[in-house]
Amino acid sequence: MLASRIRATCIQLILAGQSCAAAQAPLKPAADFPDFAFSEDWKVLGPFQIGTREAVWGADPLELHGGFRALEYDAKATFKSSLALNGEVSWSNFTAQLSDPQKRYASAVLTVAFPSIDWPFLQDVYGWAAQQWQGWARGEIYVQSASVKTLTLNIEQILEFWIDDQHHFGGDFYSYGRAAVTLHLEPGVHRVDVRLVRDVRAMGGVGEPDINIKFKLEGSSGLHVPGSPDIISDIVGDENGPLASPYVSVAIRNGALTDAHIYNVEATRECFAELVGQTPVKLVPGQTRPIAYKLSCVSPALKPGPMRILIKYRMEGDETDRQAYVDAIPHIRGIYEPQKITYMHPGGMVSYAILRPPSPKAHCHDLSPDASLPVLLALHGAGLEADSNTVRHALDPVPDLCAWVLFPTGVTPWSGDDWHNWGFADVEAAIAAIPNWIEQVDWKGPGVDIDRWLVSGHSNGGQGVWYALTHRPDKVIAAAPMSGYSSIQNYVPYTFWRTADPGRSAVVQSSLNSYRHELLLENAKGIPIMQQHGSADDNVPAYHSRLLSQLLEQAGVETTYVEMQDKPHWWDGVMTTQPLKDFYQRHLNAGLQPKIPLNLRDFTVVSAGQGDMGAKNGVEILHLETSAQLGKVYVTFDPLTLGCVLHTSNVRVFRLLPLFRDCSFVAVDGKNMTACSFSEAEVTLQSVDGQWQHSTDWPALPKRRGKQQGAMDAILRTNGAFHIVHHSAAAKGLALQVSRNLCQYFAADTGITDDYEEARISNGSVISIAIGSDLPKTSYGYHPIRLFSDRIEIVDNHVAARPALRGYGSADGLAAIFLRALPGERLELVVWGVDEESLDIAARLVPLMTGTGQPDFVVADRSMLWKGLEGTLALGWFDGEWDVSRNSYFS
Ligand SMILES: *[C@@H]1O[C@H](CO)[C@@H](O)[C@H](O)[C@H]1NC(C)=O
Ligand SMILES: *[C@@H]1O[C@H](CO)[C@@H](O)[C@H](O)[C@H]1NC(C)=O
Ligand SMILES: *[C@@H]1O[C@H](CO)[C@@H](O)[C@H](O)[C@H]1NC(C)=O
Repeated sequence: MLASRIRATCIQLILAGQSCAAAQAPLKPAADFPDFAFSEDWKVLGPFQIGTREAVWGADPLELHGGFRALEYDAKATFKSSLALNGEVSWSNFTAQLSDPQKRYASAVLTVAFPSIDWPFLQDVYGWAAQQWQGWARGEIYVQSASVKTLTLNIEQILEFWIDDQHHFGGDFYSYGRAAVTLHLEPGVHRVDVRLVRDVRAMGGVGEPDINIKFKLEGSSGLHVPGSPDIISDIVGDENGPLASPYVSVAIRNGALTDAHIYNVEATRECFAELVGQTPVKLVPGQTRPIAYKLSCVSPALKPGPMRILIKYRMEGDETDRQAYVDAIPHIRGIYEPQKITYMHPGGMVSYAILRPPSPKAHCHDLSPDASLPVLLALHGAGLEADSNTVRHALDPVPDLCAWVLFPTGVTPWSGDDWHNWGFADVEAAIAAIPNWIEQVDWKGPGVDIDRWLVSGHSNGGQGVWYALTHRPDKVIAAAPMSGYSSIQNYVPYTFWRTADPGRSAVVQSSLNSYRHELLLENAKGIPIMQQHGSADDNVPAYHSRLLSQLLEQAGVETTYVEMQDKPHWWDGVMTTQPLKDFYQRHLNAGLQPKIPLNLRDFTVVSAGQGDMGAKNGVEILHLETSAQLGKVYVTFDPLTLGCVLHTSNVRVFRLLPLFRDCSFVAVDGKNMTACSFSEAEVTLQSVDGQWQHSTDWPALPKRRGKQQGAMDAILRTNGAFHIVHHSAAAKGLALQVSRNLCQYFAADTGITDDYEEARISNGSVISIAIGSDLPKTSYGYHPIRLFSDRIEIVDNHVAARPALRGYGSADGLAAIFLRALPGERLELVVWGVDEESLDIAARLVPLMTGTGQPDFVVADRSMLWKGLEGTLALGWFDGEWDVSRNSYFS
């Protein structure tokens, strides 16, 4: 008690620019002094080498010395660093810019740069990989109050930090500011250690490679409800018009010390509101959840002022009915204007897109309600909101297209995971919402064909176009990637990862195969493509489009590549240059083309086998023989006999859609499949002991199915909110961390519970946080991983003439993270440690950012924290029977 009073006094002296040593005798706290503040002085240690998106794997050289937290400032101490002069770095001092002292919040900006490093030369040799570095910064938080203070902390551009002896992983790398960390701080001085990780994609690759960290502390108490909804649709027509769609979202944070239960929402006046999903909605202390509800109003809803929604809740152990409210004043948009529509993302929360219905002046053959026009998707670049003028008006110069123009968000400005599992699910949910809009606003114009898309996109969205082309080829009628990159590994090379046994690196690289568009281009054959790139682009070099143009040609795919001389990454009109205008007109106004012509003579279908591929020309690869290794089906069509001859490579199960009825015969790997009835809607073939068999002939499909396949990020293909289960009280803190990270990085909804059964019968993905032997056995079939209080065992059936059990002990801690099956093609992600400290290591690998490359399972000990990937003990995949796949890695 006395100590903290002395410290509180000390704070005043520090802030008054005096030394703390003068504060031996307690002074009276000054009334005008802020309740909490950051220090101005920061001590920094770095820079050290780090690879692109490597930091989740640890790879922090200071961990060899017990971590930065174990080190004290020492002007003379030196540390080895591959980046610095003499191969050594030492501590340095930095000054943060503090906000004016006030009661409500305290903020600080810390800019860290290392001008003594010869960055230009490193970059000449190693490229952008050399503009990325890591280090640590130490400062303080001062709290002056009579008792424990509850505060929320946001730190932008940071992945992990320590407050005193508490580790916080996840942070806010992309500066979303969506889910703050809640802290309960004693009066006094608190140490803040933040890990600095520079990333070219998030922080830029031109100029000095500095880092700009923004800290913000705010007072917090009770349920924090924002003044207005986070997501609400526009109103269509005029102020009497309907909402474009009924789904509304409000992000609520529980800043209290007990659980909050939201049990109802009510709308005032002539509106009606209803919670979507399970009720009541529980928020544990410190948790943020996007609350989804449906809102409908008897028009005119807006005329007498904002729409008010009452949020009814109770706090645990208190029967008092409480309420908070949000006021919404939606924008009013003309029916033909780009407008905001909302819908449910499969993850169980509300998302939005900007929709521009077809203009009455469009030059189409048919504008009657019977017509069905295609969708023109325009995928935005990284760091942009779809609800911004830049995005919303990007296609204004082409107002009269025969299409439904859709600007999806992909949920976040980084499109969740760069338009992949999470982001692309959002695109498909947005497309599926168009028919609902047609009904909601009583639209009398032409209809929509939700299965025909012209996909365009810029930058990260250009990369998203490649994803759509290679993963949904049968829906894409044409594609226009602009200033896009080919894959994350090719964008900012992985050169500076700490060297690992190639067996381990191969596992990480194969985990990214579904996003390695260079390898999947054969799927684009027969689809018109128009690539565009500025020759002076210093953000995504034109090299990417040039390369893909060359690879497409080699894959037998026709493409037009237009390089705009001296144009940068973005310019006004980038999406409506003359070549692009012509391209949109030609492919959108062409009317309905025969969807899939079987007259290509030959084509190849390629799949990374990660459960996210659609059909290509009626061929859908469902399962691979060897997981995470590309599978292919080569199709040749003989115009004379009208026979279809197929050859496969690494494919176990595939499906042929009805157009294969037109083949006079179908031969697969030399076997004439006459026995199959190709008059059926579709035919599924499985290779059993090397023989292709029709679905009537074989006993069962592989146990691991559909959305369950993939690398660890398959957990993002959830159908409903995530359920995070802590199997002991000690795991509760990490359950909250996982919840916060899913909210921060994906705007996802999560329920936290200790009731495993509740989670298992839900519809969503489950994340189990387990310590020692507290994880219940799976009741859904076989799984090769066994957890014990002090070790882990993995059954590996690919070991010849040796015991097929791989065991790892816990001498240096022990952590694991892996997928398991749940019924209904659902997944459970188990996050496990022998103890709390080890659990913290496993929790680093819960999918968060793209490019990190977690496979189906990883086992590691404490050495991962400094060795990175090389410190893992085992990692790899499961096959169709949930056995360990033969291309896994065991040390
Ligand atoms: C950094 O700050 C410390 C006090 O915390 C001081 O002793 C040291 O001289 C400073 N170093 C430099 C290079 O200014
Ligand atoms: C497969 O069988 C069909 C009809 O039974 C026959 O016309 C065709 O030539 C056969 N193809 C091959 C490759 O054996
Ligand atoms: C799961 O989804 C089904 C179908 O959408 C729904 O009827 C059911 O209520 C959901 N169950 C839970 C626990 O949310």
